[in-house]
This record gives sequence, structure tokens and C-alpha cells, in this order.
Amino acid sequence: MWHTIGVDVGTSGTRALVIDANGAIVGTGTATYSSKNSKPNWAEQNPEVWWTSTCDAIHQALSYAGIAAADVASVGIAGQMHSSVFLDAAGEVVRPAILWCDQRTDQECDEITSAIGEARLLDITCNQAITGFTAPKILWLQKHEPKKFDRVRKVLLPKDYVRFRMSGEYATDMSDASGTLLFDVRNRKWAHEAIESLGLDSDWFPPSYESPEVIATVSAIGAKETGLAEGTPIVAGAGDQAATAIGVGVVEPGILLCTIGTSGVIFAHMDSPISQPDGRLHMFCHGVPGKWHVMGVTLAAGGAFRWYRNTFCADEEREARERGVDIYDLIVEGASSAPAGAEGLVFLPYLAGERTPYPDPNASGVFFGISFRHSKEHFARAVMEGVTMSLLDCLDLVRSLGVPVTQVRASGGGARSLLWRQMQSNAFGVPVSTVNSTDGAAFGAAILALVGAGVYANVESACREIIRVTDTIQPDTESQGIWDGLHSLYSGLYPNLRDSFDRRASLLRAYAHDGGGRN
Ligand code: XUL
Repeated sequence: MWHTIGVDVGTSGTRALVIDANGAIVGTGTATYSSKNSKPNWAEQNPEVWWTSTCDAIHQALSYAGIAAADVASVGIAGQMHSSVFLDAAGEVVRPAILWCDQRTDQECDEITSAIGEARLLDITCNQAITGFTAPKILWLQKHEPKKFDRVRKVLLPKDYVRFRMSGEYATDMSDASGTLLFDVRNRKWAHEAIESLGLDSDWFPPSYESPEVIATVSAIGAKETGLAEGTPIVAGAGDQAATAIGVGVVEPGILLCTIGTSGVIFAHMDSPISQPDGRLHMFCHGVPGKWHVMGVTLAAGGAFRWYRNTFCADEEREARERGVDIYDLIVEGASSAPAGAEGLVFLPYLAGERTPYPDPNASGVFFGISFRHSKEHFARAVMEGVTMSLLDCLDLVRSLGVPVTQVRASGGGARSLLWRQMQSNAFGVPVSTVNSTDGAAFGAAILALVGAGVYANVESACREIIRVTDTIQPDTESQGIWDGLHSLYSGLYPNLRDSFDRRASLLRAYAHDGGGRN
């Protein structure tokens, strides 16, 4: 029997899955870690932790599955996108990786835009400069840590670093390379013009491949550390969003992905690349060979809900422990007792700045409209509704490109909540479905590995065979009026607050110079 392994190198942990040729999950493993936030809106992780966690998760998954390493036909790896791994000539990590959600590169984004020109940048890379992308992180290193910059000989993405440790090969795939801002997304190759205009070296970037292509094999050292067999083929894999889309069968026009993980994503498959005059959505290669996708990203989606839990829900935590239930189920139960619209309490989820539709590192979270009427349940509901409206903003941009939207497939931790799925369906005005897999990116990576092993002819046929819709929620037309009103109120807040967000950011910088103002 054929088996493959899919690995997702995420932001809060690494997940490994063993699946069989029919897509049934027969083994799982997870290893968690955290990020270092040494300044507001900074986020770093040491790539070593991704590698040790991958080894740990694969060991767990293999032992859970009870299969021999030799029965693994191939491995697929997905991972958090954009985060920068800087390696020296010996392949050693030069400094901790700067993550996708880190906002320190505002100035470098402006420098990239003026060096290449806004229109030309969009023309070559199909995207605008955004703080989370990889290229501005490289320029930040050059400016702020020049000695470390001088040592750099390779720049990798998280999953590609893990593959490097597993196989010794430098490689990437086109979906993940798209998020560097140095990739010619339309022509699916590195954008040498952009790389050279920024004074960078093309040799730093590894060869790029289509996601299901076999591009390496597990080395002797990789085998010893992971428990996999030496020589096991490894496919190119994908960025976590493209992999999640494959893992829920978003591989054709009309069916969109809505993920609520740490970040929130609206993702639409495209048969051909599209020109966006303003580049407000990301336009990347898909993990389906020869296809593309557009995507909007809410930086704090499940992350905002987790922040709410960690900050305000000690009582629920105690109760959950006593009753042996999941704390999120208790919070959602509370949220469902508050009326739709949370009686005028509106939450802006910009806890880490924002990307779509406002690429603004200075934006911050807001509770607007608080009154004596509001209880904790209203706040929980407002957080869920605020995240949903940020995703609706992304969806509206997708619709404005003329992309058809007939069904949304929900993924990520947020998809577990019926209330959140119903909110999405009501806000988006389309059916929201779940599928037989809830393991998004790791599952998509395992499907890519099945295609790489030749079990299926292509990604589309693998998804057709493996993925089935398990539940569909229809929009509740009666709540349409409430959502329209709420969204219009929500949409007015960011433009009105933009100056205040900038003033707040300057104030925070001044506090930092004054040693934190603790006197
Ligand atoms: C996508 C993005 C995030 C990370 C999260 O552009 O930045 O979704 O990939 O893992």
C-alpha cells in the first residue's frame, strides 16, 4: 500500500500526517513552538526549531501509523510563507528568521517601490511591496546588520530550509517563491530584473519547481534525524496557503478558500494570471502546475481570537478545565448568546498591523462603540464578527476582479466553529462548506507527494478522488440587512482612524527612545 507524508511548518507548530493512497489519514504528529517578539510588531523564530519539530512530528506520525519508513513513497512539505532564512556559505543560519507577520520593513518597502517603480514592480512581480514579504527583510538586514548581511549566500523560505536539512538540496516551489517579491509570477521564474535592481545576487535564490515535482531525496543524515528512509523522494511542496487550498480541493475557478488560522485568508484559484492596477490582493502561482491564485490576508484572524482568549478568558479557562471541555467552545457558546451585530460593538482585528485591504503596519486593533450594555459575550462575538468582516473586505476585492464566487470552503481552526462558518456564509452571501479533511496545509502537502509518487496523474484528479464536501451552510438571508449595516459601519472606521494610527505609531517610537517612559 502506498503512503505519503505531508508536513506543515507553521507559525505555532509543525504538523506531520501520514496518508494512504485514498487520502485516509493513518498517522499524525505535532510539535509546537512560539515566536520571539522583542519589539512591538516584530516576530522571529530560529529555523533550528522548525527542523527539530519536523523530526519530532514525523517520528510521531510514523509510529502512530505503525508503518515502516520504507513504505513512505514520498514526502511533501508546506510552510509559513515569506519568512526569511539567511544562510552563509557553509549552510549555517546567520540570524533568526524574520517572520511573515513582522512589520519592521515599512521603510524598505518604500525603498523597493521607488527603486523599481510602482507600476514596473507590479508588472514584473504582480504584487506591491508589503512588509511581510521576503525582499524588504533582506534590505533590512543589509541596513541594520551589515556584517550578517555580508555573510549571506542563500535566502530560503521555511519549508525549503527544512527540505535542505532533510536532503542537502537548495530548492523552492513557485507558490512560495511568489511571496518573495522577487519572482516573475506571470512567467513562473525568478525576476532577475527585480533582484538586480535591488543590488541582490540571483545565486542566493534556489531553483524553483512546480509543487508536485520530485526534486530531492532524503539524505543519510536526514534519514537518521527524521526516521524516514534514505533515498525517499521529496516533492517541491508549496506555501501553506496554496497547500491548504489543495488540501480542501480549491483547484478550480468558483470555489474559494477561507482560512481562519493565525492569519485569515481568502484564496481564489485562477486559470491565468490577472492584471491588478493597484495590487491590493496578492497574485501568486498556485501549487497546481500552470495555475495561479489571488489572495487577501488578514494578519490577525485566529490570532486575534487567541489573543482575546489569553487576555480576557481566565474564568473560561478554569471552567473548561473543570468541565473537561475546550475553552474555545465555551467562548463561542458565550458569543452565540449575544445578538448578531453585538449591539453596535465593532472590532477591527488589526492587532499586528494589516495587509488586505489596508497594507498598513501602523494600523492597530480597535473595539468601537462600547457602552454599559456590553458584556463579555458581546466582546467575544465582536471579535469573531470583526475577523469575518476583514475577510469580507478581501472577498469584495476578489469579486471586484470579476472572479466568480459560488462556494467557499472553510479551513483552519476557525472552521471548527459552526457559528463562525454561519457568520462567514451570512456575510459573504454564499454557501460555506467543510470537507473531509481538516488538516489543510499538511494534507495538501501529502496530496502533492501522492502526485509526485505517481499515484495520481495530477493535482486536480487527486483532489477529485480524495476530497468530499461533508457539510454546507447556506446564508441566512434574514440577517443580510444586519451584515450590510455592520460592514458599512466597520468600513468607515479605518479611513477615519488612519491618522490616529500613524500618530500612535510615532508616539510608540518616541516612548521606545525614552527608554519606555517608565517614570
Ligand atoms: C500568506 C501569509 C500567511 C502565512 C501564515 O501570505 O503571510 O498566511 O503564510 O502561515
